Amino acid sequence: MYLPFAMSAALPADLLDALAGRFAVERELGRGGMATVLLAHDRSLDRRVAIKVLAPELSAALGPDRFSREIRLTARLVHPNIVPLFDSGEANSCLYYVMPFIDGGTLRGRLHASGCWSVDEVTHLITDLAEALAYAHGLGIVHRDIKPENVFWQGGRALLADFGIATTTSATMAGGPLTGTGTIIGTVAYMSPEQAAGAKDIDGRSDLYSLGCLAFELLTGQLPFGGDTPMAMLAAHLTAPVPSVRAANPDVPPRIAAVVEQLLAKTPEERPANAAALLEAMRTDPGLTPLDQSAKPRVPRPSAAVATAAPEVRDLVEKARTLYLRAMQGGEGARGKLEMARVYADKALAKAAALLVLQKKVRDLLGGGDESTPPRSDA
Ligand SMILES: Nc1ncnc2c1ncn2[C@@H]1O[C@H](COP(=O)(O)OP(=O)(O)OP(=O)(O)O)[C@@H](O)[C@H]1O
Ligand SMILES: [Mg+2]
Repeated sequence: MYLPFAMSAALPADLLDALAGRFAVERELGRGGMATVLLAHDRSLDRRVAIKVLAPELSAALGPDRFSREIRLTARLVHPNIVPLFDSGEANSCLYYVMPFIDGGTLRGRLHASGCWSVDEVTHLITDLAEALAYAHGLGIVHRDIKPENVFWQGGRALLADFGIATTTSATMAGGPLTGTGTIIGTVAYMSPEQAAGAKDIDGRSDLYSLGCLAFELLTGQLPFGGDTPMAMLAAHLTAPVPSVRAANPDVPPRIAAVVEQLLAKTPEERPANAAALLEAMRTDPGLTPLDQSAKPRVPRPSAAVATAAPEVRDLVEKARTLYLRAMQGGEGARGKLEMARVYADKALAKAAALLVLQKKVRDLLGGGDESTPPRSDA
């Protein structure tokens, strides 16, 4: 079985057989709490697609009728900042839906690779997502699970995935949000206080709160309401004061910081009235509109992880080198030392890769700027 419940890696051959008439599955793209996403070639339309296959347990609990109701609702969404739904079906007792394959990667991947983002990118992102939300909320559809795993970034544009479906499926499977799995913790990290409190009548302002959590993390490299357990995170959403964006990253302009902090307000009434109001502000307030191309690019502050990577890399290289030299002297334990040298060398390479990504990003940003202007000393 391929599902996280059984912790087995292989995809069942009969599922692949059931899909085979229409799709040639190439590989697994990823998996969340209750589904596996496959990269496939749609034979009839000759295009690459991503197929999200729900776990059999979830498929059974959700049932084809409720699933197709959700799918029909989501399929109404046609917007440049929303990942569209192509199709849905059932294969080998598993419900699935088909969407375009997005090769830009999710925000989660980019957060891992490069720490925090430039203010300009985050401003674009908030504007894109506000546009998607204003459109969907206008059709009465609330997302309910905005988080880095559900936002793709492709060609400088944000695309929101899993509209409406993610929370229905998680609630169906878990009977509530607190199952304690890594995925659920991920979801709790962006959950609005009213959603955390189990309110039934949440509206679009809950999505605005999650968007605020996302923007805070991208700007500062840290979650606004962290915690070691889902319970601690929920408590922080419900009771901890809204953290200051500029205390975490003084480079963020005051107007942007104020918008993000307003999104994070505890009650929906304190947040922007709706996504359309947020979008209007993002488009018209000169303190919020993204920098134009001729403006001096901002250098992003590296995340704490990247900032500490350089000495760590040196340290790891030194350890690998020492072990290698000792191994070269031969004798008992030489092989063990070589293996340890390889472990340290691999770790050093992984850390260095994160630095290279940051370096490229900084160079790209400075590319159009004045070479003679040194980067800001706090960058
Ligand atoms: N359309 C797509 N194109 C490319 N990759 C995708 C696509 N949809 C999903 N993925 C990849 O598959 C992974 C798993 O997606 P999935 O929606 O199942 O889980 P999740 O969003 O991480 O968590 P959750 O279980 O809460 O939905 C994503 O994190 C992403 O890397
Ligand atoms: Mg998802």
